[in-house]
Amino acid sequence: MRKHIKNNVSWVGFIDWELEKFHGDDYSTMNGSSQNAYLIEEEKTVLIDTVWTPHRSDFVENLESEIDLNRIDYIIVNHGECDHSGSLASLMKRIPHTPIYCTAAAVKSLEGQYGKSGWNFNIVKTGDELDIGNGKKLRFIEMKMLHWPDSMAVYMTGDNILFSNDAFGQHYAVEELFDDLADSAVLDGEALKYYANIIAPYANVLRKKLDELKKMQLDIDIIAPSHGAVWRQNPMRIIEKYEQWANDYKENQIVVAYDTMYEGTAKIARKIVEEINEQSPETVVKLYNISKSDKNDVMTEVFKSKSLIVGSPTISNSIISGVAGWLEYLKQLKLKNKRGAAFGSYGWSGESVNIIQDKLREAGFDVIDENVKSLWNPTDEDFNQAKVLVSSILA
Ligand code: FEO
Repeated sequence: MRKHIKNNVSWVGFIDWELEKFHGDDYSTMNGSSQNAYLIEEEKTVLIDTVWTPHRSDFVENLESEIDLNRIDYIIVNHGECDHSGSLASLMKRIPHTPIYCTAAAVKSLEGQYGKSGWNFNIVKTGDELDIGNGKKLRFIEMKMLHWPDSMAVYMTGDNILFSNDAFGQHYAVEELFDDLADSAVLDGEALKYYANIIAPYANVLRKKLDELKKMQLDIDIIAPSHGAVWRQNPMRIIEKYEQWANDYKENQIVVAYDTMYEGTAKIARKIVEEINEQSPETVVKLYNISKSDKNDVMTEVFKSKSLIVGSPTISNSIISGVAGWLEYLKQLKLKNKRGAAFGSYGWSGESVNIIQDKLREAGFDVIDENVKSLWNPTDEDFNQAKVLVSSILA
């Protein structure tokens, strides 16, 4: 079932209301998601991207109910990840000679995943154009490392639509398709979560790309990403948001994240939260037990924060495994310009605080020395040390 975007441009993707996890189990999709594919029917008929492999039969069937597949003149593959290319092999079985336009890296990713099938690849670079008739062209813009080496966007002249693929997307199932019809709180939240968990590691690349896009002086009426809502009400709003987020974004917020075995570390965590509220009531503070909270949602809050305070008990001369895995994920996100601190309880050897401090430094945090190491149960002295830690991280 197609959805009309503008003039001769339609959405022909798949809305995945039931999706709970993405990237395997690595990314939670609390509001579902969509894989957006687009059909352009000018003098030339163009398909931009496909949908994820599990939906390939539905995709080809639905597309065939809309148009004769043999009418497709060009296929644009903006990105080889299987949530967008997963139906390509099924489609190419039906129309094997149709030219595919993509980056050189996308040829590698497509052939790597689907084999060398002799598809008619046409490699494009930034600035290359494809005439689609009626005075309109598709202009290709490489989006290398946003978020794969093969990523690309396409700008359609005349209708002024930027098909941005993963950039500016959200994992959000929105049947109404457009930003102005979506639930704005969910839309903004999912856009930020998507940025924090998927795009943030590439902030350096993004800053340069946003500058490059500005210099291109494209008139953009619509941004049509490959997931979630299409931005048509004020498409520049999400570009401005990306500019803010890519420039060491932080709010007056602190996250306290911990795991605990017998409540010692939890008691310190709660004391730290009380102290932040006491010493700086205007600072938003959020407390998460890492093992009981959604990893991606907590990271979104860390992304928004100016500081992160992490706690773990010492176990087997190390930190508890839930915190260890969480800190490894934190490191992947390459967040910048944030402060960090550590706390934890112990019974015998007490390595956890030093290990957390090291891991926070590895993740790029500016770590303060003040910490809380609590032997057995937290004492008044430990709680006083929590006060000192908070004073230092607020300073
Ligand atoms: Fe939505 Fe990188 O695929």
